[in-house]
Amino acid sequence: MRLLPLLLGGLAAALTGCTTGSAPTSLLLEASAFDTTLDNRPVSLHTLRNDRGMAVQITNYGARVVSLVVPDRDGTPTDVVWGYPTIGEYLASDDVYSGPIVGRFGNRIARGRFTLDSTTYQLSINNAPNHLHGGNAGVWNRVWEITASTDSSLTLHYLSPDGEDGYPGNLSMSVTYTVTADNALRLSYDATTDRPTPCNLTWHPYFNLHGRADRSTDSHQLYVCASRYTPTDSTLIPTGEILPVAETPADFRTPTAVGAREYDTTSSLIRYGKGYDLNFVLDKTGTAAVEKAAELYEPSNGILLTIYTDQPGLQFYSGGCISPACPGKHGQQRTPYSGIALETQNFPDAPNQPAFPNSILRPGEHYNHQAIYQFSTK
Ligand code: BGC
Repeated sequence: MRLLPLLLGGLAAALTGCTTGSAPTSLLLEASAFDTTLDNRPVSLHTLRNDRGMAVQITNYGARVVSLVVPDRDGTPTDVVWGYPTIGEYLASDDVYSGPIVGRFGNRIARGRFTLDSTTYQLSINNAPNHLHGGNAGVWNRVWEITASTDSSLTLHYLSPDGEDGYPGNLSMSVTYTVTADNALRLSYDATTDRPTPCNLTWHPYFNLHGRADRSTDSHQLYVCASRYTPTDSTLIPTGEILPVAETPADFRTPTAVGAREYDTTSSLIRYGKGYDLNFVLDKTGTAAVEKAAELYEPSNGILLTIYTDQPGLQFYSGGCISPACPGKHGQQRTPYSGIALETQNFPDAPNQPAFPNSILRPGEHYNHQAIYQFSTK
């Protein structure tokens, strides 16, 4: 009987045009569809893979993951992130945060303003009344340089000049994506600066473990290693408090279907974000720098995503504010609650919140952030 899943997996792979263990070519995008020049820099598409059926496609426009294919319980290749099939559609769509690195400061800074060493800086307001994900000139909207590339890993670099979107200092940053032999995507972020500046880089994929951008994620079961969260005001700026998740819809300390409490608007936690849009304060259990942060599981096809990080926070956004855009990959049209972002990060508005972890990078210091998105089935 143990052979049955293997046989079914092989059959599914054959039907979808790929062989077990090799790259799931039928779901992958054409590299030529990303071949262009933006801001006088070459744009391209790179495919990372292993021999266990995992493949990740990344464009250097926004250091952005456009496809992430993993086998489901039966071995069927499943593309679990939103995206568009061509660079033109990425540029035309208002869906700007599908898959890129966001920053210089991921998530919000209240009214786009912060004071650092007695100087007040004003950033752009792109999510009124606040600044979100680095503003319109954020790194998600920049062409990164490829500095290293192998079959399983890609390093991208971007130098954000002093004053870009109002941030002080030349911020030199790189991110390395690695597909491991055991079906994980590892992200290693590095940054240095020549003037003190806030720095909080994160990856902003929308996951749909069904492999369908047009299907609700309500049945996905979420587990988060967090007994506290940072409540916000109605504009999603943290109040500065750190509160227990117990007896709130934010309690995911046992795996719970995302849809079970997502529409409970009696809770301001749900009402403000039209669903979940909150930062968890991750429980640190030991001395390991990188610890488990969360699991996301889809019972119908068995895909399990386990996230590990060294960061203090995890943003969970269930996509309630998403408006329909032009159809994405595989002809699928996204809808509200059909994509889940789980972003390893510092806490939102940290530059204005003295009680939150430090988010200021200074000359001579080195920002490093590790995150692992591990896929398996059960
Ligand atoms: C934020 C949401 C925002 C979304 C944009 C998330 O990280 O928490 O408030 O709407 O990014 O895609």
